[in-house]
Amino acid sequence: MNILYAVSESAPFVKTGGLADVAGSLPKTLCSEGTDTRVILPLYSAISEKWRSQMNFLFYTYVHLAWRKQYCGLFSLEHEGVIYYFIDNEYYFKRESVYGCYDDGERFGFFSKAVAEILPLIGWKPDIINCNDWQTALIPIYLRQEPAEFYGSIKTVFTIHNIEYQGRFGKETLDDVFGLPNELYDSGEIRYDDDLNLMKGAILKADHITTVSPSYAFELRDPYFACGLHKVIEYNSFKLTGIVNGLDTGRFNPMTDGTIIEQYGPHSPDGKKECRKDLCREIGLDEDEYSPIIACVSRLVGHKGFDLVSDALDRIVSKGARLVILGTGDGIYENFFRDAEARYKGRVSANIMYSEKRASKLYAGADIMLMPSRSEPCGLTQMIAMRYGTVPIVRAVGGLRDTVRPYPAENSNGFTFYDYSADAMLGAIDYAIDIWQSKDEWWNLMCRGMTEDLSWNHSAKEYINIYKALMI
Ligand code: GLC
Repeated sequence: MNILYAVSESAPFVKTGGLADVAGSLPKTLCSEGTDTRVILPLYSAISEKWRSQMNFLFYTYVHLAWRKQYCGLFSLEHEGVIYYFIDNEYYFKRESVYGCYDDGERFGFFSKAVAEILPLIGWKPDIINCNDWQTALIPIYLRQEPAEFYGSIKTVFTIHNIEYQGRFGKETLDDVFGLPNELYDSGEIRYDDDLNLMKGAILKADHITTVSPSYAFELRDPYFACGLHKVIEYNSFKLTGIVNGLDTGRFNPMTDGTIIEQYGPHSPDGKKECRKDLCREIGLDEDEYSPIIACVSRLVGHKGFDLVSDALDRIVSKGARLVILGTGDGIYENFFRDAEARYKGRVSANIMYSEKRASKLYAGADIMLMPSRSEPCGLTQMIAMRYGTVPIVRAVGGLRDTVRPYPAENSNGFTFYDYSADAMLGAIDYAIDIWQSKDEWWNLMCRGMTEDLSWNHSAKEYINIYKALMI
């Protein structure tokens, strides 16, 4: 079975969020399950020389995008057994940032069209193309505009990682930028209100839709979560499946992680204490074995629940806990936490940065990981935390609800709360601190998280079952 995984970012080459972690790990597992899975992404200038020097140039061609005819080079490299293709066009991808350019619609329209147009040229034909989020949402639409003789047999799966970003553009872009026929707009297939909506188009056109957890698949039918697309999801729910993401368990492993001061695991837990000391030293926290360290590793934006954390900060500190924040995002939160660090020297630490190394130190050195998200399609942080023996406190929503089983259940691996309120969150924090003080109970919780199978093994099989069903 040949699968092409089309995506706008993939670890270890270029990463802005969890999507890159998924693209950097699911294809590997799909390959080890006997499929020939390859990944295709843009060759951004952010991709370093380290990777570029390993790439082979395959060929170039010209891609048609409405009245444009644009250069398209194709490079490839093999990494950990997976073949990656990179679409090269410096006009579109030699930019300061991966997303957020004024012409993102055209940039990813080009990428999607290029994926469709190079297929007859690469000497390898996918049975399935798995597209991800709005940046690749045009692929299922373009494929159906091309001659059925070659393209007709290729099936498409569209994975929604986050419905908040739908790819909405003015209706004039349909013809002038994307080069698509007006019928698609008039029929409503790619239209929402008076705009183009690429995600809606993909939901309608793809042969199957997946999203990154069963609970999120359910929530997407609810206007509160679906950002306007709940009805579209409801009508298409016959082809929607929620599959929880896995982790790259080779990469996230405290027994082999070279960035932490001492490796440890469920059978050799002492190293975690050293990691805790090392973290405190590095970020200037007062080390105190009677004060639990609560960490947040996240983009600092409202929907991750930082309004609750900032509301509750004084009360968290007054419970004797330490609070460590790592991430960048909205200025209002960045400044709030910088200010809190100044007010509570040694008790609050604001790491307003993006650093994978600092993140590892936090996963290893903290006691509790806090994720009070308003919505969370899957979330990887809680799983990485568990792997490092850091017990998650999460709001029971989306993938958080599917991966964290609340204490005191026998198989519990964390704490949850339901209401989106600072009080509900503080209630869960109180409960967790209470259990943290009874060291044996806590140790059992940590161990259940550390020994849990968080790999892709199970979920990759679910993807393969969907692909197989489409090929019948
Ligand atoms: C998005 C979601 C996150 C998910 C990730 C990977 O970033 O917000 O919850 O874990 O995609 O699927």
